[in-house]
Amino acid sequence: MEQEHKPALEGLVENRDVAQGRILIVEDDPAMQYSLSQALEKLPYHLHLASSIMEGRQRFEAEDPDVVLLDINLPDGSGRDLLKVLREQNDEVVVIMLTAFPDLRGAVSCMKDGAFDYLVKPFDLTELKLAIQKGMELKNLKNEVIRLKRQDRSSEKLGDIIGDSALTRGLRSDILQIAQKGHSTVLITGESGTGKELVAKALHQNSSRKNGPLVPVNCSAIPENLVESELFGHEKGAFTNATHAFKGVFELASGGTLFLDEVGELPLATQPKLLRALETRRIKRLGGSREIPIDIRLVSATNRNLEEAVAKGGFREDLYYRLNVVPIVIPSLRERREDIMPILHYSMEAISGKNRMQPLKFSPAAVRLLEKYSWPGNVREMRNLIERLLMLHGQREVQVEIGVKKLPEEIRDSVPVGIQDPESVEVLTLDEVEFNHIRLALNACQGNKSEASRRLGISRNTLKEKLKRYSI
Ligand SMILES: Nc1ncnc2c1ncn2[C@@H]1O[C@H](COP(=O)(O)OP(=O)(O)OP(=O)(O)O)[C@@H](O)[C@H]1O
Ligand SMILES: [Mg+2]
Repeated sequence: MEQEHKPALEGLVENRDVAQGRILIVEDDPAMQYSLSQALEKLPYHLHLASSIMEGRQRFEAEDPDVVLLDINLPDGSGRDLLKVLREQNDEVVVIMLTAFPDLRGAVSCMKDGAFDYLVKPFDLTELKLAIQKGMELKNLKNEVIRLKRQDRSSEKLGDIIGDSALTRGLRSDILQIAQKGHSTVLITGESGTGKELVAKALHQNSSRKNGPLVPVNCSAIPENLVESELFGHEKGAFTNATHAFKGVFELASGGTLFLDEVGELPLATQPKLLRALETRRIKRLGGSREIPIDIRLVSATNRNLEEAVAKGGFREDLYYRLNVVPIVIPSLRERREDIMPILHYSMEAISGKNRMQPLKFSPAAVRLLEKYSWPGNVREMRNLIERLLMLHGQREVQVEIGVKKLPEEIRDSVPVGIQDPESVEVLTLDEVEFNHIRLALNACQGNKSEASRRLGISRNTLKEKLKRYSI
């Protein structure tokens, strides 16, 4: 039978809008029920009451509580049995056992069955509140983990590729489309730091091979004499140090994706063997005679201009065509300047969070410079800059603003005034022209403000005001 709300609970009912969690109290002693409700009245929780195991089960199903306070001696059985049932039904629920008869073995067995805590009556109310608070925190964490897992599964797994420019949106939709074609061989090209590895991961995660392995190999990092064994494996005794048989990455990536990074660095001598493996879809381990069929998707990446390398004889033409079946070209950051600030903010959040610091903000003048800078090292350079700035200026409690002065020289000096490619002439605001011109003057005078104000034809005070205004 359902228990009526007692007067003690009315406050809580009013509190509904701010309530942060649901508590089910399963307790048959009316005095105890009353004092528990009194104790919890001021806290922002919804309370539900039950007086027996049967009623407890019903209320549990109906209310889906976060925390259950569960008495052990109940009229229709033991709270220990109900604990097992509840945990079987929902192993996220936090159950705090209450008992008037302390018994160590009983306590241990409750904990084994998944109770979160065990309180002996008469307990201290502060102790109870603390246990509930801890339980709610645990439940929230569990919910968060479930939410993140779900989000991870349902998102297109392209969430890490930030940027709303037409180029980046096109890139994301190309990745999704190409990913579906699980066998096609992909070659990703782009300058250093543009996100080639990120794209390779996204291709794998969005393909039907996502449950198989993604095996990355950096071709430039393997000593030349070991490349073939790394790729194709070897049999025991294949060469002097081959004391064991060894699987190469083609075999390790079976059912998944093989990512050959920096493929442009592959030694010329190995290139025909790679070509043969791709054409026959079979490999032989070094020193072996068995033909092993391969089931991989090959994704390779390079920041070298492979066509040029082919023309110069540094890369085999036939292999180049074999690798470049489906090309993905990642544009440099300066070709998609709208992406600069979104990627900067996203990376700032991620890196500052990892270092437990407040993210830095940038002054409007600093933002202007960042947006105009050429970023030769692309996103990697940006992430390095963020790390450096956080190391130098980041704080745990306060958010620090980065003005132009705190930016590295290459960024501060990156906007040549008046010398612009006529194709991309951009009309600046007068403020921007003034800002650039003042920086030019300061540079020309090695930062000497009196000299700069003299050359600009303004007073030192006017210069000072302008420096402040533009946070130079
Ligand atoms: N669009 C983007 N959004 C968010 N992060 C990005 C983006 N592009 C690249 N990054 C990040 O920038 C860093 C460099 O990316 P990645 O290692 O994939 O570049 P790369 O092209 O492989 O560089 P390299 O040629 O130097 O190996 C990584 O931390 C990556 O997560
Ligand atoms: Mg890379």
